[in-house]
Amino acid sequence: MSKQLRIGIIGAGDIARNAHIPNYQNYGEDVHVVAVANHNKEKAIQCADTFSIPYAYEDYQSMLEEMSLDAVSICTPNKFHADQAIASLQAGCHVLCEKPPAISKKEAENMAQEAERAGKILTYGFHFRYTPEVETLKKFIDAGELGEIYASRAHYNRRRGIPGWGVFTNRELQGGGTLIDNGVHMLDTVLYLMGYPEPKTVLGATYQKIGNRPGVGLLGEWDYENFSVEDMARGMITFTNGASLTFESTFAANVEETSSKNVTLMGDQGGADLFPLKIYQEKHDTLLDSTPAYLEKRDVYQHQVHHFIDSIMHDSQPLSTAREGVIIQAIMEALYESAKTGEAVNL
Ligand SMILES: NC(=O)c1ccc[n+]([C@@H]2O[C@H](COP(=O)([O-])OP(=O)(O)OC[C@H]3O[C@@H](n4cnc5c(N)ncnc54)[C@H](O)[C@@H]3O)[C@@H](O)[C@H]2O)c1
Repeated sequence: MSKQLRIGIIGAGDIARNAHIPNYQNYGEDVHVVAVANHNKEKAIQCADTFSIPYAYEDYQSMLEEMSLDAVSICTPNKFHADQAIASLQAGCHVLCEKPPAISKKEAENMAQEAERAGKILTYGFHFRYTPEVETLKKFIDAGELGEIYASRAHYNRRRGIPGWGVFTNRELQGGGTLIDNGVHMLDTVLYLMGYPEPKTVLGATYQKIGNRPGVGLLGEWDYENFSVEDMARGMITFTNGASLTFESTFAANVEETSSKNVTLMGDQGGADLFPLKIYQEKHDTLLDSTPAYLEKRDVYQHQVHHFIDSIMHDSQPLSTAREGVIIQAIMEALYESAKTGEAVNL
């Protein structure tokens, strides 16, 4: 007989409503979203009504105590991820926590340790891993078609994409700006494709040049008077296996494209760009470029949530692990630290 899973949601905002709740509800009859918690009770009730969720809570701790949950999605501002994930794991729940894992390496480490102690899944909302591009390129990499990947680039740039909603420009609640919000997606993607090598040194620079003044908002009108985060982050990361990565992300920058993101990999047998997917090789005395003739169109959030459920059902390791969460958080923390001191940080 298959398991019946009782799911709770912490944080009833955009990502919970658009990516998590509907995709638990369309998994099938074995998965039930039974409760939602939001520190603003009205929002919890409104969300419960919209999605026909039986219980709404103001206090997530009470939800964890009373609802006998099997799994929880954490969809709150970054500052709350660690405490809520640890409390959920201690209550015996598997956890799908939104990205970034937390706001410090110490927090991500505590979360990973708690997951290990509890013997529960802790995974993160790095949904780009579920794109057909990443899935396809990973197969080529695993088959050795790129050889040793020794150099890479990743970027996620927006021209004027400072979020005009939520708390994305509040350092206290988010832990940072473009690096920890949109940049983290491409950082995770490139690390995943490189096999999550152990970072050695991080050199970083961050800037706040555009977000602290009014301007054309392509993602809504942002709160420039209280803009307390970086709008550009740049860095170079070296790894103990000798590989190196250059990275850039922006909320706002004076560049041509409204939004662009990519990962470039350079291996000794081949290279690749991810968006759009293209593979570069030297074969039979010629330089060869390969592009897929067809890539499936899919809802990556649905894949992510269903993969989380499948991992619980089959007692298997999820694609994004708690230990990788510690590595990526350590890199971001070091990049911020390096930007502050002007010195490279050795990890
Ligand atoms: N994977 C993605 O593509 C993606 C996209 C957007 C956001 N996110 C992540 O999701 C998280 C939430 O972002 P969002 O866009 O949904 O923001 P949001 O502001 O729309 O929603 C956050 C919700 O959490 C509630 N909340 C705040 N503090 C709380 C607390 N202590 N306890 C319970 N609820 C609390 C707020 O009232 C709000 O309803 C962030 O970590 C963000 O990085 C991920």
